[in-house]
Amino acid sequence: MKSLTNKRIILGVSGSIAAYKAPSIIRRLQDIGAQVKVILTQGGAKFITKLSLQITSKNKVYDNLWDEEKESIITHIELAKWADVILIAPASANTIYDLANAKANNLLTNVVLASDAKMIIAPAMNQQMYKNITVKENIQTLIKRKVALINPSFGNQACGDIGQGTLADPKLIAAFVADTFKNTLITLGATVEEIDPVRFISNKSSGKMGLGIANACIEAGAKVTVIYGNITTKLNDKCDNIKATTAEQMYKSVMENIKNQDIFIACAAVNDYKAKNITKHKIKKTAKPLILELIPTKDILKDVCKLNKKPISIGFAAETENFIQNAKAKLKNKNCDAIILNNVAKSNLGFENDENEIVFIDKKSVTKIKKNSKTKLGVEIVKIIKEKFL
Ligand SMILES: Cc1cc2nc3c(=O)[nH]c(=O)nc-3n(C[C@H](O)[C@H](O)[C@H](O)COP(=O)(O)O)c2cc1C
Repeated sequence: MKSLTNKRIILGVSGSIAAYKAPSIIRRLQDIGAQVKVILTQGGAKFITKLSLQITSKNKVYDNLWDEEKESIITHIELAKWADVILIAPASANTIYDLANAKANNLLTNVVLASDAKMIIAPAMNQQMYKNITVKENIQTLIKRKVALINPSFGNQACGDIGQGTLADPKLIAAFVADTFKNTLITLGATVEEIDPVRFISNKSSGKMGLGIANACIEAGAKVTVIYGNITTKLNDKCDNIKATTAEQMYKSVMENIKNQDIFIACAAVNDYKAKNITKHKIKKTAKPLILELIPTKDILKDVCKLNKKPISIGFAAETENFIQNAKAKLKNKNCDAIILNNVAKSNLGFENDENEIVFIDKKSVTKIKKNSKTKLGVEIVKIIKEKFL
């Protein structure tokens, strides 16, 4: 199952009898790594206590738009900014109406209006209410606005009716939330290959380009795992960050984490060669030339692309000559979905620099992206990946 590690979920609990299932939803979300904060409507509070939700969520439960406790913080804006996802489960007919009509009459509806987080509703109500044309239209209005719907199930209802309107199973709700995030694995930075206890072979990669992509993926709502080598940049703590120093460690870490990934972006500058033997003691200087025997490291991108269930896989090519030709050869050789070409021949671009100029090459097209900061290029790259592959 996909995970929700580091993802922040606001659970809106509104006035349905199914609100008693909210602690179960919270637990299932937490089981797969989510942090949960609950907003309880007045209707919801008729069916479940604040205390149960507070204890299961391990967070304060929010139920008051007119919070007078904090002098300078506006609660609904703070919550709106905190959330990666706003899940309303159960969503009552009344709350669905409020959302469809952009009402801002309680804390939950205000948070929804003030947030750009993904929105998911899991309606729960009497089967006849769920069939009601106005309720259906309100739900359709929300779907048109990109709100995701978790269909209620058919079954025996609390009122004795049989039909569709029962809240979906909490485990399915948690899985649905996890599925809305694209799992993305990104490698970045330089690997470091030891020669002796004090010396190593590495390269100039700073990790900035990979971080630009990781940040853009987080902004786009992905669940991001970063495997990083030597870097000179600060990582994003919304990603799952895993250190891997050598090419061998990075290979192992990628293979351990590749399952369930939707997208793999190999941005790290992995050394192509490593010392055949790492000498135990420092190599002494002599008058003779020193010959170091190097052997190739494993090809991470190529091996990911050989997997039965391979994610959309994108590599980088840092070239100094025959740019497009070399990048196209790499695309074919690795059997990946795209290559992002870096011209590292220009000293003010690429490695170590804050700016870059790239070409996105897939099997059908070549897209040039003009010089920009690596932060902005990250956004452009994610936009292209979305357009071409998702
Ligand atoms: C016993 C009882 C059970 C209810 N169950 C539901 C329900 O399952 N779904 C629903 O949409 N409304 C249900 N309602 C009506 C809502 O609680 C009511 O519309 C309320 O205003 C919703 O407020 P809220 O959307 O702000 O939480 C029920 C009302 C009562 C008295």
